[in-house]
Amino acid sequence: MNLLLTSLLCALSIGATTIFDRNLAYRSPYADHPELSHDTKELQARHFRRQNADAAPFSDGHYPTFYGSDFSNSPFVWSGGINFTHSDRLIQGDPLDTSVLIWTRAFPLGAGLDQSVPICVSYKIFASPALPGRPIDSGEAFTSWDVDFTVKFEVSGLKPDTQYFYVFSDCTNPSTVSPVGRTRTLPSPDTPAALVNGGKPLTLAVFSCSQFQTGWFNAYGVAAHNTSAEIFVHLGDYIYENVDGGSVCQIIYCFESETNLVNSASIGREVLGRELATIHDYRQRFNQYRTDASLLLAHQNAPWITVADNSWKAGTTDSNDTDAGCSFSPSGACFTDRKLAAVRAYHEWLPIRQVSTFDQLRIWRNFQIGKLLDLTMLDTRQYDRDVTDVSYSWPVVASLATFSNRSLMGAAQEKWFEETLIQSKDRGAVWRIVGQQIVFTQLLLSGAFGNPPRFLTADDWDGYRANRQRVLDHLYRNRISNTIILSGDSHANWVSDLAHPNDTTTYNPITGEGAIGVEFAGTAVTSPSAFGAGISPAAADPVSGVFVAENPDLQWSEGSFRGFFTLSINAEMVNCTYYAMRDIDSANLDAFASAQFIVKAGENKLSRPVAGGTVAAGVLKSNGTT
Ligand SMILES: *[C@@H]1O[C@H](CO)[C@@H](O)[C@H](O)[C@H]1NC(C)=O
Ligand SMILES: *[C@@H]1O[C@H](CO)[C@@H](O)[C@H](O)[C@H]1NC(C)=O
Ligand SMILES: *[C@@H]1O[C@H](CO)[C@@H](O)[C@H](O)[C@H]1NC(C)=O
Ligand SMILES: *[C@@H]1O[C@H](CO)[C@@H](O)[C@H](O)[C@H]1NC(C)=O
Ligand SMILES: *[C@@H]1O[C@H](CO)[C@@H](O)[C@H](O)[C@H]1NC(C)=O
Ligand SMILES: *[C@@H]1O[C@H](CO)[C@@H](O)[C@H](O)[C@H]1NC(C)=O
Repeated sequence: MNLLLTSLLCALSIGATTIFDRNLAYRSPYADHPELSHDTKELQARHFRRQNADAAPFSDGHYPTFYGSDFSNSPFVWSGGINFTHSDRLIQGDPLDTSVLIWTRAFPLGAGLDQSVPICVSYKIFASPALPGRPIDSGEAFTSWDVDFTVKFEVSGLKPDTQYFYVFSDCTNPSTVSPVGRTRTLPSPDTPAALVNGGKPLTLAVFSCSQFQTGWFNAYGVAAHNTSAEIFVHLGDYIYENVDGGSVCQIIYCFESETNLVNSASIGREVLGRELATIHDYRQRFNQYRTDASLLLAHQNAPWITVADNSWKAGTTDSNDTDAGCSFSPSGACFTDRKLAAVRAYHEWLPIRQVSTFDQLRIWRNFQIGKLLDLTMLDTRQYDRDVTDVSYSWPVVASLATFSNRSLMGAAQEKWFEETLIQSKDRGAVWRIVGQQIVFTQLLLSGAFGNPPRFLTADDWDGYRANRQRVLDHLYRNRISNTIILSGDSHANWVSDLAHPNDTTTYNPITGEGAIGVEFAGTAVTSPSAFGAGISPAAADPVSGVFVAENPDLQWSEGSFRGFFTLSINAEMVNCTYYAMRDIDSANLDAFASAQFIVKAGENKLSRPVAGGTVAAGVLKSNGTT
């Protein structure tokens, strides 16, 4: 080894791992705990050992760790070409006012994959789609087999509330480029509400429960193609871990027999692999999801903000850390192993910011979007939730539902949430939009469909009633106006005024007086209805009729259609439109607006008449069903 090389190695081994570290995928899920993610110093050392032992001596000026090299002299950076695989090209997310995360996957072309050879990817970002002149920002990073060839950059130093266009290329061959992606930054926190988004309403599209094997992701396509949505919010169940045709058994009510499930093969949507347990399983599933053209279109054109769904802090329906709970998979992975594999793959494959170990697997976070709104994302699933209804535990959980010491969010998150609402009010943000996984409003069902009377599912806030009451008390006590809760998970549509359950003294269900906000809960992108897989509108509407009659706060219920909703937000009002997909058995953009709701600033309720008095699907309380 020559002297120059030795000193270089020493210099570089002291933490000069910039080109690995620039790729945030190596830090999945933890930013500050290499033993649980990847030790990039070790990866760099491995790279050196290979370079040293097997390669012809390299010329220092071309050592690829140095920016500015053209990489052409190094056999230890992949130069055999990159496939920005069509199935997973361009993704962005977690935008802030001056930065955004951009993502791609750079798979080496050809055979003979060598696990220790890194692949170098560069990005450039521009203000116009024609990508003129010098980029506003650019950079390079390695990826490798270790992170499934995923690349996640944080691009910073951007202007607030601005659209950008970005492209990835192969550092060793800049003519190999990805398609062009579009993204945007958020307005800075102090931008006056009226100036956000150039004075136009800011539109969010809201999704949940996208199960590959039960349908095509047309909802993403309609949102990207047919609406002006600029930010996509996913409230959980972005992927599913099972392989069958979409059992709805974690939902207590199955109104039809479970034989009426979706036949995945007949619609061309069978999933690869097995029930997910290992990191390989999770990566393969993400990869397959990213073959859906509607999902790709949606990812390519707007930043996403996501949270994960399913399970509680120590188990799922079929896995936990007991002997029986480890036998669900041939790999014998227990729940804790599975959870680590799942979160690692999630952080590799989604443009979410990495988490800090000091905070467990914290994904709850707040986005200050000018003075127009705070978008507060909660984790009502994993972070610190007490035991939930995982089907077989239903009687136990139901009996605990009213305990005041039961927590859905965990004490730390609950405190943070309360403070975030106060801060948002104090800083003068007009709206507080709260994105979280599960339905907040009481959904009691009795009569012909619920005998004996039961709640839709104790897996929702109904199973954590003291926690729900604390949230409502906090809003009322501190006079926090203009709060809108967004919910997913239930595979049906529910729109409600926010008020204490059963309290028709303070709250008037007809006029909405006395409410403290609104909940918009949305149906699934594809997962089967909570009312029964494939249920027709004619069969679903009578059930909706019982729900809206029985639950004072609930103003609209719809249980047949799969879809999504949008919120167009300005300082005067929020305009919420629900979209229903006509057919998810094939790829298409065939949909209609099933209902539209207005919430005026300061009113803290749905504007009357609710939905303008008419809906194209489902049942309104004001339709004479009460
Ligand atoms: C690139 O990846 C896509 C998706 O996996 C595949 O269909 C295509 O054949 C690959 N292209 C090449 C040149 O290998
Ligand atoms: C663990 O999972 C197994 C298999 O699903 C189940 O039989 C068992 O009751 C579970 N145990 C706990 C404590 O949840
Ligand atoms: C929670 O409250 C219930 C009912 O008051 C009580 O039985 C239980 O012991 C409490 N649990 C804890 C951990 O304090
Ligand atoms: C509301 O009233 C129903 C019917 O009496 C009851 O079953 C339910 O527990 C009540 N909900 C709450 C949160 O008290
Ligand atoms: C609400 O949005 C829908 C869909 O964009 C639009 O048709 C409707 O006119 C809007 N309503 C109001 C009051 O702005
Ligand atoms: C979306 O646009 C496509 C064509 O651009 C059209 O065929 C389709 O009907 C539209 N869907 C909706 C819901 O407007």
